[in-house]
Amino acid sequence: MARQLDSATRDALVERVRFYRDLGLTEFYRRPVDLNAEAAVAVEEPVAALVAEAEQDESQRLQTETFLEDQPIPPRKPFPAAPEVAAAVPAADRAAALQMIRDEMGDCTRCALHTGRNKLVFGDGDANARLMFVGEGPGADEDAQGLPFVGRAGQLLNNMIAAMGLKREEVYIANVVKCRPPGNRTPEPEEANTCSPFLFRQIDVVRPQVLVALGATAATYLLGHRQPLAGLRGRVHPFRGMQLIVTYHPAYLLRDPRQKKEAWADLQIAMRELGLQAPKAGSSR
Ligand code: URA
Repeated sequence: MARQLDSATRDALVERVRFYRDLGLTEFYRRPVDLNAEAAVAVEEPVAALVAEAEQDESQRLQTETFLEDQPIPPRKPFPAAPEVAAAVPAADRAAALQMIRDEMGDCTRCALHTGRNKLVFGDGDANARLMFVGEGPGADEDAQGLPFVGRAGQLLNNMIAAMGLKREEVYIANVVKCRPPGNRTPEPEEANTCSPFLFRQIDVVRPQVLVALGATAATYLLGHRQPLAGLRGRVHPFRGMQLIVTYHPAYLLRDPRQKKEAWADLQIAMRELGLQAPKAGSSR
């Protein structure tokens, strides 16, 4: 008899299989499991059907939605100079140092975004991470929970992290702006420039070996200049003594899954720099 998966497991499995397939990884094998073989095989077919269904939905959505990365990047004023690189914080003190920055932000009213905020989304993860991701700004789910990348784009980011052989708790994640822009619009330069000094301080505390900018907004405010993503992807940028890699924002990848292969190529650069190997299919990290 076919083994029934609960809907959350099934959805997560579909997402994971689709993600690997979008990366161009199409050969899957199953590790021997304790369940009887017949039941184990029986779950594969419905998953394949669900993947096909989800892909059809995605391609219908593709025809109607506009792409985040196609929109012009807003800054039209000169960028403020990035703050000086701060002194290194000993590993044992980094979590406390991040908390000090959070405390200093307090109930922030430094820019207009605070008026629509439920929760300020400071950052999440390991204060001693070797890998850090920077996104644009919180969406509705993040604003409700006070944590970065917990919505659909976050699920995709989690899959990207897992594909790199890491757990989400092993990386650090933050955004350019800490409060949700209304309607998830791109942050205005005024907002991003007001908030980004806190991001630079977070980066200097964590001091990851590799920093990944997710999308044009993160790349723009980290690098301090506007440039199309195409010219920034696919290579390492020296950045504050670290290595910065630019890739697509997961929300963009949800809208255009064809670009996941490109994003995976960028993540493989990050993996190479970190000396990481992709987990073997079927491993249960
Ligand atoms: N998009 C972002 O850029 N950041 C988040 O935290 C969530 C979605």
